[in-house]
Amino acid sequence: MSLAIIIADRDPSDIHQQLARCIPDIDCQIWPNITQPERVEFAVAWQAPIGLWHQYLRLKVIQSFGAGVENLITDGSIGDNVAISRVVDQDLAQEMASYVLSSVLMLKCRFIEFYQQQQQQKWSGLPRHSGNKVTILGLGQLGAAVAKCLMINGFDVTGWSRTEKSQTFCRHFSGVQQLPQALADCDYLINLLPSTPETEKLVNQALLSQLKPSACFVNAGRGATVDEQALYQALLNKQLSFAVLDVFTQEPLPEQNPLWQLKNVVVTPHIAAVTNPKTVIEQIVENYQRFKKQQPLLNRVERERGY
Ligand code: NAP
Ligand code: GLV
Repeated sequence: MSLAIIIADRDPSDIHQQLARCIPDIDCQIWPNITQPERVEFAVAWQAPIGLWHQYLRLKVIQSFGAGVENLITDGSIGDNVAISRVVDQDLAQEMASYVLSSVLMLKCRFIEFYQQQQQQKWSGLPRHSGNKVTILGLGQLGAAVAKCLMINGFDVTGWSRTEKSQTFCRHFSGVQQLPQALADCDYLINLLPSTPETEKLVNQALLSQLKPSACFVNAGRGATVDEQALYQALLNKQLSFAVLDVFTQEPLPEQNPLWQLKNVVVTPHIAAVTNPKTVIEQIVENYQRFKKQQPLLNRVERERGY
């Protein structure tokens, strides 16, 4: 039996070395040099090409190397019997929290406008935005860490999720019916939703029109959850003040996409929270060992739920 590392967007040698150090007798095959796919029962995967899995006839587990699993969930070449687990990592959550906090502070302190003034050598003070209300769409592993970080820094946080929670540390709403309440009077809207059929284009014209023109938007969830055309129009027409965007419908963001040109947008290249092999290797090894002992996997994804 062998373990496959199928990681398309970064050098997998670090992950391979760490796995070999933790499990000395491991038989690893590294994509694209997989010569015996029929021997693979456990795969560590990220951005694997769609449709690749047909030839992995004995595959039992795919351990996603990231938090989002939409590419795996929607890939019809993965058999129904294959379990999918994902990364849940404190360091990843902290990285996301620092990305969102710095985005919100940058917007609050008006650094984008000061940078634009700098281009004209213009020395002119602007008051900080006084609003402190943050709404977080998606109060999961990352959303909760972001919420706590913002609260410690004095923000008034509301979270929104799919299901009701019996206990929450911040104001909380759930389901589409309560979305208007979650958005009421929001100054900073943070999107940390996964991409699922239910969340597709959830941030659309109807949602954006519920925000104040002074509101700002930070998207670090997934591009597919936003109607990009509606977002572009809202930013162009100043129905929305600023946006910090890390994720897009198409990545890399195409050269001709007009979002590049907007002066009230900051684009980052999907770097809000990048999985660190050093911090997640333990849970990957643990899951591999659990799989071998036929024990329940950590952080198993509910495939029918979509995230
Ligand atoms: P998670 O723990 O699964 O949390 C997902 C949250 O979204 C949960 O609160 C869930 O509600 C909520 N949700 C799902 N469907 C919903 C719906 N239809 N309506 C309302 N709320 C809904 O996921 P996570 O670990 O926090 O990660 C969130 C996402 O961040 C990932 O899926 C990935 O797309 C993205 N991400 C981006 C980066 C980056 O660098 N930009 C890095 C890592 C992850 P319940 O609590 O009710 O289940
Ligand atoms: C990154 O986007 C992830 O889902 O981990």
